[in-house]
Amino acid sequence: MQLPLCLLALCAAVVCVSANRTFVVDYENDRFLKDGQPFRFIAGSFHYFRAHPDTWQKHLRTMRAAGLNAVTTYVEWSLHNPRDGAYVWRGIADLERFIRLAVAEDLLVILRPGPYICAERDMGGFPYWLLTKYPNIRLRTADIDYLNEVRIWYSVLFAHISQYLYGNGGPIIMVQVENEYGSYSACDGNYRTWLRDETQSHVKDKAVLFTNDGPSVLRCGKIPGVLATLDFGATRDLSNTWQRLRRFQPNGPLVNAEYYPGWLTHWTEPMANVSTNGIIGTFINMLDSGASVNLYMFFGGTNFGFTAGANENGPGNYLADITSYDYDAPMTEAGDVTSKYQTLRSIIGRYIPLPDVPVPQPSPKRAYGIVRLTSCCSLLSPEGRQILATGVVRATRPKTFEALNQYSGLVLYETWLPRFKRDPSILHVPGLADRAYVYVDNELVGILARETPIFDLPLSASAGSLLQLLVENQGRINYGQQINDFKGLTQDVTLDKKVLNNWNMTKYPLESVEDLLQLVAQSNAPEADAAQEDIQNLKLPRKLLRSGPAIYASILRINSEQELADTYLDMSGWGKGVVFINGENLGRYWPLVGPQVTLFVPAPVLKVGNNRLIVVEYQQAPITQQLVFRDKPILNARS
Ligand SMILES: *[C@@H]1O[C@H](CO)[C@@H](O)[C@H](O)[C@H]1NC(C)=O
Ligand SMILES: *[C@@H]1O[C@H](CO)[C@@H](O)[C@H](O)[C@H]1NC(C)=O
Ligand SMILES: *[C@@H]1O[C@H](CO)[C@@H](O)[C@H](O)[C@H]1NC(C)=O
Repeated sequence: MQLPLCLLALCAAVVCVSANRTFVVDYENDRFLKDGQPFRFIAGSFHYFRAHPDTWQKHLRTMRAAGLNAVTTYVEWSLHNPRDGAYVWRGIADLERFIRLAVAEDLLVILRPGPYICAERDMGGFPYWLLTKYPNIRLRTADIDYLNEVRIWYSVLFAHISQYLYGNGGPIIMVQVENEYGSYSACDGNYRTWLRDETQSHVKDKAVLFTNDGPSVLRCGKIPGVLATLDFGATRDLSNTWQRLRRFQPNGPLVNAEYYPGWLTHWTEPMANVSTNGIIGTFINMLDSGASVNLYMFFGGTNFGFTAGANENGPGNYLADITSYDYDAPMTEAGDVTSKYQTLRSIIGRYIPLPDVPVPQPSPKRAYGIVRLTSCCSLLSPEGRQILATGVVRATRPKTFEALNQYSGLVLYETWLPRFKRDPSILHVPGLADRAYVYVDNELVGILARETPIFDLPLSASAGSLLQLLVENQGRINYGQQINDFKGLTQDVTLDKKVLNNWNMTKYPLESVEDLLQLVAQSNAPEADAAQEDIQNLKLPRKLLRSGPAIYASILRINSEQELADTYLDMSGWGKGVVFINGENLGRYWPLVGPQVTLFVPAPVLKVGNNRLIVVEYQQAPITQQLVFRDKPILNARS
């Protein structure tokens, strides 16, 4: 009989603490012990910040129905601490609710608090304001400013989650220290042990601390006294892979904390497509060898808003992550099961008993069809500036987004061009992060981009004298050496080698939906009907875009509860931008390069009645100004 030691209040929150409630590593016998009994996990990754909170429970149940006994999630610092000193724990940031739902669905939790998480998220989960506050900060090192900020964040975070640690009666069996630190060039031993001790001071002996690294980088990844685990995908040589771990950790349970059933995708690449047959062999072999395995991702979800990150595949080779994090995972972006899921479920069932939980049906999908939008106004128009811009800063040299204390969106950089010595002259914008729409005297004259990379543009003396660079942040780098990825104009701009000074910088964070709605309302374009006129006057949308990103608005009418369903917004024919529905930023679209053409709209974002749709198009709206809501995603195309 177990002895409940808990008070009633603690019982209500989670599970009663029993005398034997322990989760520990049994190094001698190469295994975990849970409550004194041998234990192994077969887990799946699901990041709460990538799904609408109203869908969490269903996704967790779908994971449990696959036989998984634990869910693994990162904690995203920037989500919970978006401004210095400001904290968010509601809605999609309600981590405690996510943990309680996991308990209700009979799942243990493996927590990966970072503080750096990579995860294909903006700045690898770090809040941008670290770069505002400390422009020279050395992230992921023993830099005192960095350590102080981590200490503050962890004290806030663990005040919320300590009660959920296994030894305190909760489901959290493991807590990660750093994330793939072995792959980070700094390789700072002082930082590693400091973070271990800092994490330990909160976790104590109430859960197992672990690190997670690729098999070849354990030298900088392994932390003394912390359980090392590996991450790798399908391999022909599993025993050699485990041997690499054994060189650094002779005993202890074998763990692959990130086994890849799918993969991430950048804009311009083909959509990840990882075959089920290719991954099951290694999966079975790992389970046969008694290993604990976490599938990364089991459910990927969506990078809503501006949360997607970017990678740099070699210096100067910037690639932004797509909005969808479908990942070709066993569950789709909408959380529906796939044949990959069914195959993995049948394998998992051979090793641990499948629960008596039916596999949930796919969520309903609906093709709401065509919606015609009304063009409203340019962001750079006087009204656009008045309503959407959150401030203007004047300075001799251009300032970065971070120096302007701006998270994402756009910044407009303006200056007067000097007298041209040649015609044309070369405008040179090195250090552009990431993409600039270039206007002279309010006319679009070209686009510069870090991604291509193109930093030079010939300008004619006859074009005019007002130079405007509207710079887009496409996502801060989440992996590698360049995680101090300042946005905007990070170096001087020149015209035929002459430095351009005296900049006016206008901030468009695009975070306030109220402001966008106000701008649409003020433009007094009568909804719906005006679109017809625009179509007759075919030039309007393009003319509008020549003088800056433009806003388009419409209403999606939903008549009854029965019609509420997940849907996919097909952006074919549009250029690049972001879409808001009922105030939710669905994320970036860019069908011109693909592979993602549709944006996922989870049903809980929609409501019966009028659903307000706002598109902020940066470069090219279709003449028809139409959008189509489909019942299927298009994730492997361009249009
Ligand atoms: C709890 O631990 C004690 C001592 O380790 C052991 O004798 C007992 O059987 C355990 N009880 C349960 C329910 O596992
Ligand atoms: C992935 O590859 C398979 C086999 O080559 C193909 O049948 C399937 O359509 C592909 N999926 C996508 C999304 O391209
Ligand atoms: C910047 O702002 C100042 C003050 O409003 C104005 O005089 C100047 O012309 C502006 N520069 C540009 C390039 O618009």
